[in-house]
Amino acid sequence: MPNPKLNNNVEIPALGFGTFANVLVKGETCAAVLAVLDAGYRHLDCAWYYLNEEEIDAALKQWFSMNSSVKREDLFITMKLWPHLAEPEDVEWSLNNSLKTLGKTTSIGVSNWKISDLEAMLKYAEIEPMMNQVEIHPFLPNIELGQIETTQETPLQNAELAALAEKKGVLAVPPKSANEARIRSNFVVVDLSEEELGTICKAAEGRHYRFVNPKVTSGYDVWPEESS
Ligand SMILES: NC(=O)c1ccc[n+]([C@@H]2O[C@H](COP(=O)([O-])OP(=O)(O)OC[C@H]3O[C@@H](n4cnc5c(N)ncnc54)[C@H](OP(=O)(O)O)[C@@H]3O)[C@@H](O)[C@H]2O)c1
Repeated sequence: MPNPKLNNNVEIPALGFGTFANVLVKGETCAAVLAVLDAGYRHLDCAWYYLNEEEIDAALKQWFSMNSSVKREDLFITMKLWPHLAEPEDVEWSLNNSLKTLGKTTSIGVSNWKISDLEAMLKYAEIEPMMNQVEIHPFLPNIELGQIETTQETPLQNAELAALAEKKGVLAVPPKSANEARIRSNFVVVDLSEEELGTICKAAEGRHYRFVNPKVTSGYDVWPEESS
């Protein structure tokens, strides 16, 4: 699968690795990041909220010291500001904090934005966001949003879905696993026939089920219209 390019010409590896892991298992993320880099992943999805940037930093330093042919610029690392840190001084703190551990930034994006909010923001934004990271899978196909460049979270760790995501205009998927064998098997993309794609799309028709809602993780209600 060729790496897609963002509007600013920065390449984003289509298959990434999600680092939201169990913070209580010390060293799990470090071991996982070493395994994913060995397996060939070059895109890590991170966030201060995941409370493991230090482990990722340690894994990167260790891995780079053993793999000098790969450079920091060969890796695409996403980090996220949490929505409760929206005051200017909080944004500055969070950005500096992540930059300190994970390095400089090439592209700015958003996450969990809906189309109406993106349209409103583009009227005043001085820098156009390059990406909208949202949940996409057959239970939440998000077809309209999928026409905009997106990273797909919660991809159900499935190569067929990664292929579907690419055909639907979704740029990149970051599956998560702490298991070395699954880390390797998740890094394979299979080609799907039109018929197979049709079957998956048909299963998605009329569905709208969110597995991850920031209302629960951060109290930030992005989709009040979905609340019962
Ligand atoms: N921007 C946002 O608001 C947001 C929200 C949610 C997620 N994300 C990003 O998306 C990433 C993925 O999130 P997620 O919710 O999809 O992951 P998840 O549910 O947190 O983790 C994936 C689960 O699937 C298991 N798994 C992995 N590969 C498998 C396989 N081949 N077969 C069976 N089970 C498998 C993993 O277990 P093992 O570890 O034991 O393999 C793990 O329990 C996150 O890490 C994060 O980076 C972003």
